[in-house]
Amino acid sequence: MSMRRSLLIGCGSYLPERILSNAELAKKIDTSHEWIVQRTGIHQRHVAADGELTSDLALAASRRALEAARIGVDEIDLIIVATTTPDDTFPATATKVQAGLGAVRGAAFDVQAVCAGFVYALAVADNFIKAGQSNTALVIGAETFTRILDWQDRSTCVLFGDGAGAVVLRGYEGSGDPSDHGILSTHLHSDGRERDILYVDGGPSSTGTTGHVKMVGKEVYRHAVSKLGSVIEEALAANGLTAEDVDWLVPHQANRRIIDSMANRMKLPTEKVICCIDRHANTSAASVPLALTEAVQDGRITQGDLVLFEAIGGGLAWGAGLVRMGYPDLA
Ligand code: UT7
Repeated sequence: MSMRRSLLIGCGSYLPERILSNAELAKKIDTSHEWIVQRTGIHQRHVAADGELTSDLALAASRRALEAARIGVDEIDLIIVATTTPDDTFPATATKVQAGLGAVRGAAFDVQAVCAGFVYALAVADNFIKAGQSNTALVIGAETFTRILDWQDRSTCVLFGDGAGAVVLRGYEGSGDPSDHGILSTHLHSDGRERDILYVDGGPSSTGTTGHVKMVGKEVYRHAVSKLGSVIEEALAANGLTAEDVDWLVPHQANRRIIDSMANRMKLPTEKVICCIDRHANTSAASVPLALTEAVQDGRITQGDLVLFEAIGGGLAWGAGLVRMGYPDLA
């Protein structure tokens, strides 16, 4: 049966130059490199320079993704930026990326699903493409998350970093079979009853301030392990696949222990799990496309590979997606 699908034809990423090590943090707050590494796997994080905005990171990642996909800006008819740290309250950061690229066709808007943002944006773009409303989409996860941290709160400020990753999707008439290329399916969930375990204590309508991240880490951890486990099973079952069919797990990079727990549950060997939390920390919506790009660029992920994405964050909002990489004729 023929079915319209989204091919993932290119990706790119950008990390700000400045690196902040655990040792530097330990000079300012009551923490240690050992504690951070043991509890999270994080060694360092990138931090945007003064005046370097989320849109700057998003734009740099987008240019690289377009180059990798070998397509021109004029072909883009949808730009979605997943971000929790937009440049401004409005307009959408995506419109700044659109202007920066010189793109004029179609729509540009932001998606807010915190750390699950990229998976959400991917699902939105995939559905636009499936519905025939768009043909070529730029999907970006970009954050200057360090700007919303309370640098006195050691339970949160050691965990996050800044960065951006982008992918290009393109409409294609596929077979509808899991062996075929493109996004096989996406699966989104949220549970607003758990809003209070991970939130920011500010906003334009509530306080008129930007606010800072607050988290009940242990609770989020507990939900992450069970909810990510379920949504992975849901994604595999929806396509008649098993964990053995997955070539690569590209997980949200929030905690090395959560990543390991997903890999164990799927019985995936560590070498099939893309992990960059040691260098990037948790970059929220940027974490999945950053990890994906790293593994594509170093040659681990190649044409025809089946890749499983998953992420969870504030909301709670979580999701997963299964993608067979590349173009059908090159596989
Ligand atoms: O991307 C969004 C999704 N977010 C997540 O998935 C995060 C999920 N949660 C986690 O990753 C973990 O819960 C954390 C890494 C945030 C915390 O690890 P934990 O093993 O749950 O530690 P904890 O919060 O229970 O804290 C253990 C101890 C506490 O001390 P006491 O009460 O046992 O004396 C904390 O005060 O560690 C202390 N602590 C620290 N010590 C040194 C908390 N933060 C720090 C720190 N340095 N930075």
